[in-house]
Amino acid sequence: MKIGVSGASGHLGRAVVSELLRRPGGHKVVAISRTPETVSGPAQGRFGDYNQPESLAEAYAGLDRLLIIPTVDPVKRVAQNVAAIDAAVRAGVKQIVFMSAAGARKEEEPALGASFWRGEQHLIATAPAWTILRMNFYAEALVQQRRRRWTGAY
Ligand SMILES: NC(=O)c1ccc[n+]([C@@H]2O[C@H](COP(=O)([O-])OP(=O)(O)OC[C@H]3O[C@@H](n4cnc5c(N)ncnc54)[C@H](OP(=O)(O)O)[C@@H]3O)[C@@H](O)[C@H]2O)c1
Repeated sequence: MKIGVSGASGHLGRAVVSELLRRPGGHKVVAISRTPETVSGPAQGRFGDYNQPESLAEAYAGLDRLLIIPTVDPVKRVAQNVAAIDAAVRAGVKQIVFMSAAGARKEEEPALGASFWRGEQHLIATAPAWTILRMNFYAEALVQQRRRRWTGAY
């Protein structure tokens, strides 16, 4: 089985790739981002840019499962999520896993939950098999916020 992680070079993506590589199961891991050169084996690095949907066709080709990790960009995130889901469906990915967020609900952008909710709805409407994960607030984010308050750094 080939498992892809889109957004693989970020904090969350790196942790997911590392966990997948640690687990037994005989699967192969494909790490997708705009910087595939940062991926070291045994994962395979592939270029894929959410803002260039045509690049995602090749990035997602041949995957059995794909985890889509949205970017931190609140403005482009809806279009990026939709592009990634469409590309994965077109590429024939058998199961698409979307990293959404707790509090995702129908609301107007740029409210935080809006982009995640739109991604969820698009996935449900279009993917043959899907899983939605809703992250809560990271403990690391709490620590970062607290540190910023103490040091005044932003
Ligand atoms: N719940 C919480 O407390 C919490 C806290 C922090 C973040 N988050 C959310 O969790 C998600 C992941 O956060 P993170 O900290 O892992 O983010 P991050 O470290 O900034 O990583 C973002 C990833 O997305 C990739 N990326 C950015 N723009 C891209 C594009 N146009 N096309 C393809 N890939 C692109 C980056 O790779 P390249 O730049 O190499 O392409 C990187 O792999 C985000 O949605 C963020 O908003 C939640």
